[in-house]
This record gives sequence, structure tokens and C-alpha cells, in this order.
Amino acid sequence: MRWTERRQAMLREMGLRVWSAPAAADDGGADVAIAEAPAPAAAPEPRQPAAVRSPSRLPPHLPQIAELDWPELRAAVVACRACRLCDGRRQTVFGVGNERAHWMIVGEAPGEQEDKQGEPFVGKSGQLLDNMLRAIGLTRAPAEPARQVYIANTIKCRPPGNRNPETDELAQCEPYLIRQIQLVQPKIILAMGRFAVQSLLRTSEPIGRLRGRVHRYEGVPLVVTYHPAYLLRNLPDKARAWDDLCLAVETAQAAG
Ligand code: URA
Repeated sequence: MRWTERRQAMLREMGLRVWSAPAAADDGGADVAIAEAPAPAAAPEPRQPAAVRSPSRLPPHLPQIAELDWPELRAAVVACRACRLCDGRRQTVFGVGNERAHWMIVGEAPGEQEDKQGEPFVGKSGQLLDNMLRAIGLTRAPAEPARQVYIANTIKCRPPGNRNPETDELAQCEPYLIRQIQLVQPKIILAMGRFAVQSLLRTSEPIGRLRGRVHRYEGVPLVVTYHPAYLLRNLPDKARAWDDLCLAVETAQAAG
């Protein structure tokens, strides 16, 4: 299938060039997405986190979390000292966007820039995320709920040195994300990276085995894709991420 102009534009936003192969006699040619820079050596397969299994999905420190409204939830996150990450944070990173967004984007954890600015995805991977969103007509900037996404992380405090979150940290923080999803009531969730994906889907399957189909989180369609930080290191997978975005767009459209 040839790339449409819209798809080409989307790929360009994601930093991919589209190369058109010469037409074969019977197929009219094929277009191939290629990364703009040569891919570095494949990163080692990230270690699998132990599956997060919080029996009640509620942290012992905040049993009433499922009843909090937005201001209460925000205040609870700001005050949270449930795990060791509170010791190293400059500030918590709650989430940003339209509180009734149709699209909810779930990432992993704040990095240095996010910890400084108090907003998710403001560093380099955030720039790529913004480009990906722009490519499909979405934004984090103020707009109506169909266009302005809500962005949240699985973990609200920066892990020191940007290390991977630990299982207990994920478990303590997860209820905040669960409540955010309940409050937003998105039509679609785009889960980026294995910590978001594995926490929300309660699985230890790698992303490569989960992407390409629509999952459900508490009835909400959920599409799995690579984390933008991973895509910055693994440029050829941007074409797969683009496929994921297309699947998410189709799914959101079908959800009305
Ligand atoms: N990576 C994430 O998953 N979230 C952020 O907020 C920043 C980087």
C-alpha cells in the first residue's frame, strides 16, 4: 500500500524520511519509511520488572484515593511520602492536559527536566511525544477534549539518576494513575513504554508482543507503543510507533 500524504507528514513529524521504491510491474511501487540517522547498536533487552500485583490496587497510606476529586488527588500526590522517591525529588509531577481528554497518554516516570519543571514529558522524549501527537492532530496545549490529550506518568517522582522504577514504587504510585484515568474517562489510552504497559495490563509480556492490537483497561481501549526515549535510541522502530499511532487513531475514531 502506498503512503498517503497524511501518513508521510506524520512520519516526517516523527523524524522519518519516506523513500519511494521504483514501481514494480504489478504493484505500483512501495514506499518505505527509513530513519533519518543510522540506528545505533541495538540496546540490550531491558530487564523485566517483577509483575506489579497490588491486591487492592490501593496504597495503605491512602485507602480513600478512589474517591478523591482532581484538587484532592493533586494535593495527595504533592504530599505523598509513600516510597523512597520522595527523598530525591524536587517536586512531584502530577500530569497535564485536558481533564476530560478523549486521549490519555501514559508514560513512565519524570526525568531531570520533568522534576525541575513539574510537568511530564518536557525533555527530549517530550519533544518527540509532542511531534507524534501533532502528527495525528493532537496537542497538550489548551484545546477541546477531542484534541487536547491528558498526559500522566506511572510514577510521579523522579527515580534517582533516571533508574528504572522499582516494583514497590510502581505499586505505591499506581493508584494515583488509576484515579487519574477514572477522572479523565478517556476514550483511548496510549501506553508508552513497558512500565506503563505492564502496569496497566498486568502483564510481563514485552512491548513487541503486545503492540499491534487493541487491549482494554477497565473497558477503555488501550494501544501499546514504544516509549519516546526508546525511540530516540532506536530510530527504525519509529515506523512501528507510527503504525501504533495509526491503530490508536482508528480505535479512537471507532470509539466515537
Ligand atoms: N519519560 C516519561 O515516561 N515521562 C516523563 O515525564 C518524561 C520522560
